[in-house]
Order: sequence, then structure tokens, then C-alpha cells
Amino acid sequence: MRIVYDSKTGLGKKFAEKLPFPAQSVSEPISEECLLVTRNEGLGRIAKRTKVFLKQYGPLVKGVVVNGNKRFGRFYCAAGPKIEKRYRIPVIRHIEGEGTADDAAAVEEYLKTLPLSIK
Ligand SMILES: Cc1cc2nc3c(=O)[nH]c(=O)nc-3n(C[C@H](O)[C@H](O)[C@H](O)COP(=O)(O)O)c2cc1C
Repeated sequence: MRIVYDSKTGLGKKFAEKLPFPAQSVSEPISEECLLVTRNEGLGRIAKRTKVFLKQYGPLVKGVVVNGNKRFGRFYCAAGPKIEKRYRIPVIRHIEGEGTADDAAAVEEYLKTLPLSIK
């Protein structure tokens, strides 16, 4: 299990690094199951590098965390439902900025529910 982050200003990367698995950028190749921490582009669009990554590695992605900002109002983490619909991958959590200790604990709990073989 790895954590992959698509992070422009570094907040998603910080969250990824709070989780107890190796973290790497969405630009790097991957050959094992992972959790993706992504962000939003204007008005809740899926970030471009995230689209490229999911197209190539979608079957390896066991869950997604979407990182947004509540100042975007109804578009807060609006990329999340789009990812679920388009790629059929569960969105585990919406977080703001680098996320809270509760966010990290909830994501860890989710990772524990995955089959043992991919830990
Ligand atoms: C151009 C731009 C558009 C954004 N659009 C949204 C948005 O629609 N919804 C949202 O929740 N956050 C939006 N954000 C906020 C980012 O998703 C948020 O700042 C995130 O924490 C950035 O993560 P990063 O530091 O890992 O890049 C936007 C940020 C930028 C710069």
C-alpha cells in the first residue's frame, strides 16, 4: 500500500505524509495498490494530473481523499463525486488543507478494512 498525492501547493502532500505508508507524487509510476490524495481545479473540476493517473492506474486505486477549501462554497471538494461517478472508486474523505488528526485517523481506519493482502 502506498499513498499517492496530486498536490500543487503542498497541503495534500503534507496530509499524505501523515499516513503510515510510503507517499509518492502522482507523477511517479506505481505498481502496487494505493490511496490517492487529490485536490480540485477551478469550480470542482478533477485535476488534470489526477485524470491522467486514474486513466492509467485506476484499478490500483483503492480509495480517494479530496482536498479542498470551504471558501469555494458549493464547489467544496466537488471533484469528489465526479471521481466516484467517472472512475467508480470510493471517496473516503473530504479534507481542508493539510487535514486534521481526525481526518488521518478516519483514513487509517478505512485502510485497515481493506483485504490483508494489499497492506
Ligand atoms: C485555481 C484553483 C481552483 C480551486 N478550486 C477549488 C474548488 O472548486 N473546490 C475546492 O474545494 N477547492 C478548490 N481549490 C482549493 C484547493 O483544492 C485547495 O487549496 C487544496 O488544499 C490545495 O491542495 P494542494 O496544496 O495539495 O495543492 C482551488 C484552488 C485553486 C488554486
